[in-house]
Amino acid sequence: MARPFRRYSAGARWYDVLSGERWVYRAGRVAGIGLMDLQAGDVVLDLGCGTGLNFPLLRRAVGEAGHIVGVDRSADMLAVARARARREGWSNVTFVEADAAELDVDGLRARIGAATGRATADAVLTTYALSVMRDGAAEAWRRAVALVRPGGILAVVDMQPPTGRWRILAPLARLACALGGADIHARPWRLVARDAAPGSVREAAVRGGHIVAAVGRSPGEVAPTARS
Ligand SMILES: C[S@@+](CC[C@H](N)C(=O)[O-])C[C@H]1O[C@@H](n2cnc3c(N)ncnc32)[C@H](O)[C@@H]1O
Repeated sequence: MARPFRRYSAGARWYDVLSGERWVYRAGRVAGIGLMDLQAGDVVLDLGCGTGLNFPLLRRAVGEAGHIVGVDRSADMLAVARARARREGWSNVTFVEADAAELDVDGLRARIGAATGRATADAVLTTYALSVMRDGAAEAWRRAVALVRPGGILAVVDMQPPTGRWRILAPLARLACALGGADIHARPWRLVARDAAPGSVREAAVRGGHIVAAVGRSPGEVAPTARS
């Protein structure tokens, strides 16, 4: 775990330009956030938010009345995310520097309550982060899901080797994942299928199957407009 962590500290300021965002990885966040069907006013937890590349799309979906909670263990990645929010004039973003696998669920619930007046989040999204968290991914996901209201949205976007005729690009995809410290075989979107209400899961694959987005509804009350 030590090497990926350094990668996301010293390298934080270069992440947006060197991560392949424009040509490859933006497509995954667009697909995943599109499937989430967020509503204005929603509270979204972005787990392993990094430099906040999801924030513009999330903010467009939840609006000024909504709230984004960005969790990351790298102070340097969060510094870039904070600068983005400052530049855009967004005041409805809460930043949490923490190891997601050791997230203080009650503490964060209290912070969400203080910021939004609600006890829970409407959605959790994690993009290209669970595959980097490796052994801590399942616990990080469990803690994040505990913060989402019944009927809320569970969303994972992550990577695998390209499929079909795009398999020819597998060495490139493996290199990108190795550079980012990600396990290309982790397939963490399976956690959505495991934890979401039966029949609620939708998936999309983009960039030759290299990126998979899975979105479902947390079990319980499945009314999308319900609030806790
Ligand atoms: C590949 S980057 C993805 C960042 C962002 N989600 C995106 O889509 O651009 C992985 C992020 O996960 C964060 N990360 C890795 N392990 C973590 C952990 N245990 N807890 C919280 N964040 C972690 C890293 O600091 C990094 O910002």
